[in-house]
Amino acid sequence: MAAARVAILTVSDTASLDSSADRSGPAIQGLLTQSGYICMHLQIVPDDETRIRSVVLAWCDQGDIDWIVTTGGTGFGVRDRTPEAIQPLLDREAAGIVHLLLSASLKATPLAALSRPVAGTIKNTLITTLPGSVKAVTENINALLQAGVVNHAIELIR
Ligand code: MTE
Repeated sequence: MAAARVAILTVSDTASLDSSADRSGPAIQGLLTQSGYICMHLQIVPDDETRIRSVVLAWCDQGDIDWIVTTGGTGFGVRDRTPEAIQPLLDREAAGIVHLLLSASLKATPLAALSRPVAGTIKNTLITTLPGSVKAVTENINALLQAGVVNHAIELIR
């Protein structure tokens, strides 16, 4: 398969004011680049449903992004709305990927129960919503890559 192209969206009020505060977006980029993915975009938006949706839809409309990874805004904080922003956009939900993320994460920490991930496809793009910390994104990305799940999903979606 030709190298998969990814776009990474950090959802954080803090990082949207100061990009140097974003450690998780670059951490995802590092992990995926190491694994042969091509990073097309690395962007930051505040915890704002409209802003999240507009970036995600623009990337899906591009037609050349295989996988969108968001980080942050999946928890119970009053401003955490990433799942609510993404879920209505999904053409098809991927409950199995959500299950994989949560089951792998719960092996690392019971606090994984506080993340509310959604996953699925929009047009020809897979999207997964990861929690906000570097530790959490590392564990989640490792789960997705180790299982070979994402590559197989991308092959099927293309
Ligand atoms: N998942 C994994 N794998 N590892 C973690 O350390 N932290 C949890 C959870 N998921 C964690 C995890 C914590 S403490 C929170 S509050 C939620 O993700 C939500 O994070 P978010 O609001 O930054 O998206």
